[in-house]
Amino acid sequence: MKYGYFDDQNREYVITQPDTPLPWINYLGCQAYFGIISNTTGGYSFYRDARLRRITRYRYNNAPFDLGGRYIYLRDDASGEFWSPSWQPTRHKLEQYSCRHGMGYTTISSQYSGIEASTRYFVPLDENLEIWQLTVTNRRPHAAELSVFSSIEFCLWDAQDDSTNFQRNFSIGQVEVEDGVIYHKTEYRERRDHFAFFACSETIAGYDTQRDAFLGPYRGWDNPDAVERGYCFDSVAHGWSPIGSHHVKLSLKPGESRQVVFVLGYQENQREQKFDPPDSQIINKKAVKAVIAKYRVAANADNAFEKLRIYWSELLGRCHVDTPDVHTNRMVNIWNAYQCMATFNMSRSASFYESGIGRGLGFRDSNQDLLGFVHMVPGRARERILDLSATQLPTGGAYHQYQPLTKRGNNDVGSGFNDDPHWLIIGVGAYIKETGDWSILDEPVPYDNAPGSETPLYEHLQRSFRYTLDRLGPHGLPLIGRADWNDCLNLNCFSDTPGQSFQTTTNKDGTVAESVFIAALLMLAGRELADIAQHRGLATEAASYLAEVAKMEATIRQHGWDGEWFVRAYDDFGRKVGSKENAEGKIFIEAQGFCTLVGIGLEDGLAVRALESTRQLLATKHGIVLQQPAYSKYYLELGEISSYPPGYKENAGIFCHNNPWVIIGETRIGNGDGAHDYYTRINPSAREEISDVHRCEPYVYAQMIAGRDAPTFGEAKNSWLTGTAAWNHYAITQWILGIRTSYDGLLIAPVIPKSWRGFNATRKFRGVTYNIEVQRAGDGNQVSLEVNGAPVQGNLVPLPPPGAKIVTVKATLH
Ligand code: BGC
Ligand code: NOJ
Repeated sequence: MKYGYFDDQNREYVITQPDTPLPWINYLGCQAYFGIISNTTGGYSFYRDARLRRITRYRYNNAPFDLGGRYIYLRDDASGEFWSPSWQPTRHKLEQYSCRHGMGYTTISSQYSGIEASTRYFVPLDENLEIWQLTVTNRRPHAAELSVFSSIEFCLWDAQDDSTNFQRNFSIGQVEVEDGVIYHKTEYRERRDHFAFFACSETIAGYDTQRDAFLGPYRGWDNPDAVERGYCFDSVAHGWSPIGSHHVKLSLKPGESRQVVFVLGYQENQREQKFDPPDSQIINKKAVKAVIAKYRVAANADNAFEKLRIYWSELLGRCHVDTPDVHTNRMVNIWNAYQCMATFNMSRSASFYESGIGRGLGFRDSNQDLLGFVHMVPGRARERILDLSATQLPTGGAYHQYQPLTKRGNNDVGSGFNDDPHWLIIGVGAYIKETGDWSILDEPVPYDNAPGSETPLYEHLQRSFRYTLDRLGPHGLPLIGRADWNDCLNLNCFSDTPGQSFQTTTNKDGTVAESVFIAALLMLAGRELADIAQHRGLATEAASYLAEVAKMEATIRQHGWDGEWFVRAYDDFGRKVGSKENAEGKIFIEAQGFCTLVGIGLEDGLAVRALESTRQLLATKHGIVLQQPAYSKYYLELGEISSYPPGYKENAGIFCHNNPWVIIGETRIGNGDGAHDYYTRINPSAREEISDVHRCEPYVYAQMIAGRDAPTFGEAKNSWLTGTAAWNHYAITQWILGIRTSYDGLLIAPVIPKSWRGFNATRKFRGVTYNIEVQRAGDGNQVSLEVNGAPVQGNLVPLPPPGAKIVTVKATLH
C-alpha cells in the first residue's frame, strides 16, 4: 500500500493522505538555520545546534509522534467553524490534502469547506529564518469572512533544560511585541545575545504570546480558546510558556486568493549593542527590522525560493544517471543525494529518532558521510575534515563525538572506539580523490584543540594508522576497545548493572578482545595512506604501509577465516565471535562485507565463499540481516548487541548501513546482478508499494529494517540520519555504476546487471563535466574506453588539459 507518489520531475514526494503510518518528515535549511517538518507540519526549528539553540519547542515521545509544529488555523467567521489546513492538530476530514516534500521545502495544500489553503515552508539561503507562504483561495460561490491564526511555541533555547527545569523555566519567559512582530527574548536580559522573532506580512487583528491565554485552561492545540472565539487576547508572556500567534482577518470574494507570509527567525546582536535605548532592557531591533521588512513582501519570498531551487538543482546536477531502473535513477539523482546532505548537516543529531539533545557529531559517522556528499559541497567537506581532525588525540585516537557549536571533543562519551581513527584516513582520501586538493594535507591542525599542538594534517593520518598498529591483540588482530563500527559489540564492557551505558562502561583491560572488522578496515585505510604517501613522494613510507596491509591480510587469513566465512571478532576470553563454534551469532555481515570489499580472497575463492554464506544465511527479501542466529538472551561478554530483542537493531536487524559493504563485495567478484539485487532490496523507492509494512518514508533510507527474527519483519525505523545514505550512494555510483573517483582521475568500472543494455551519466568532477555512456557488448565487466572519440587503454579517464570543460566518455562492456 502507498500513501503518495514520487513526482520526479519536480523532485518531490507527494503524500496524499495525512495519516501516514509514522510522521514522514523533511528538512528545512541547509546552512545554519534548520527545521524538521512532518507531513502535518509537526517538528521544530533550531539555529546550528539542535540542543543549545532550539527555537521552537518539541515534546518528546508524544502521541501523536509529531505533535507540536508550525500550525495555522483557519476559521470561518460566519459559522465559527475552524480547522487546520495541515490536518494536525484539529484533524478535520479535509476535502483534499497533499504534502509535497521537496528539496529544502515542504508545501502542504488542502481544501475544507470550499476554502483552499496552500502553505510553502522553506528557509532562504544565507538567512537565519523560515518562511511560511500561505495562499488562501475561496472556492465557494459566495464571499467568505475568514480568520487566520498562526502558532508556534518557543523553546527556552536549551532543549534539554527546556523539557526538565520547570522550577526555573516557568518564571523566565519574556517577549516583546512591536508592530505586530513577536520577539522571544528569554534570557536576553542576561547572557544571551540572541532572540527569535515571528512576523506576519499583514496588519494583524490581534496576537497572543502566552500559551495559556491562547489555548485556555485544559485545552490543547486541537482546540485553542482564541481560535474558537475568533479573537486573540493580546497576551504578553511573563514566565510560563511563551508562544507566538497572529490573528489575520481575510475577506475573500468567490474565486479570490490572498497570500499571507509568516516569517520566523533567529537573530544575534553585538553584545555592546543589545539594547535600544542602550540603558534600557528593550531589544535593539535595527538590524532585524530590515530582514523582516524584506520577507514580508511575497515577491521577495518568491525570489528566495527560486534561488533555493537553483541551489539544489546545481548540487544534484553534479551526479546524474539515467539507467534502466527508475528506483536507481530516483535515489541517485534526487533522494539519496539529498539525504546525504541531511546527514552532512545533522550528522546524527536531530530527526524524529535522534532527539537533537543527545548526540553530537560522530567522528566515525561524519568521516564516512563524506563519501556521500563530498562531490556536492567540497569546500564544506574540507572544513568538516579540519574540524574533525582538530579533535583527534595526540595518540592518534579520537573522541567518539564532538559538539558542533564548540567544535570540541565530547568528554562524556570519550574515546576508545578503536575503528574511529581509520575513518579520518578514508574521509580525507575521499576528499582528495574528488577534488585533487592535496594542499589540505599541509594544513596545520591541532590535537584535542590544544593551541600549539598543530602538525600538518598528514601527520594526523600517520598517527591514525599507527594507533591501530600500537594496539594489536594476541592473534595480531586490532584490539577492539569499547567497540568498533558496531557500537553494540562491547567486548570489554561486562555490565550487569541496569541502565549503565554499554558504550562507556569498561570493566576489562582491553588487551584481549580483537576485531576482524578493524583488521579489514586497516587494510582499506592502509592502502589509501600508501597512495597518499606515494603521491607525496614518500615511496619508502608508502611501501611500509603496504607491508602492514599485507601482514594484516595474512593475519585475517590465518585467524579470521572460519572455513565458510570470515570470523567477526575474538572476545575477552580469546574465543571467536561470529564463528561456527558459537551457538548463536555464528556469522556476521560486517566481516563478510568488509573483508570482501577490500578484496581478501578474490584470487582463491574465499571471497566468493563468504558471499555465498552471506546469501544463504543472512540475506532476506527485506535486506541482509546483521548476524545469525539472533541472540536469544543477554550475553555479559558481548554487551549491547545481545540486549536487543531478536531481529532488532544490531541483534540481527537489517542494519542498512552495512548492506552496501556486501554490495561492493559482490561487485568485486564481478556479480552485478547480485549487487543490484541487494541494492534494490533496501532501496526505499523500491519498497514504496509496501509502505504499510515498511512504515518509514519511502524516499529516504532508514537505519534499520526489522530482521526475520522480529515479529515485525520488514518494518523500518530510524529514518534519515544514518550512514546508510552515504554508503549506498557510494556503492551504487562508484561500484555498481562504477564511476569511481581516484587520485589520478575518474575510473570507469561498471559492474551492472546483465540485463541492462547500458546507462548514461553526467558527472561533474574537478570542474569538468563528464558525459558518460556505457554500453553492453557482452555479458562481462571488461571495459574498453573511448575518451573524446579516441580509444584509451585501461579504465582510467585521463585528466583533461586545464581549461577543458567537457569530456565525452564511451565505455563498452565485454
Ligand atoms: C545503538 C547503536 C548506536 C549506539 C550509539 C546503540 O544503542 O544500537 O546503533 O550507534 O547506541 O549511540
Ligand atoms: C549507529 C552509529 O551512528 C554508527 O556509527 C554505528 O556504526 C552503527 N550505529 C552501528 O552500531
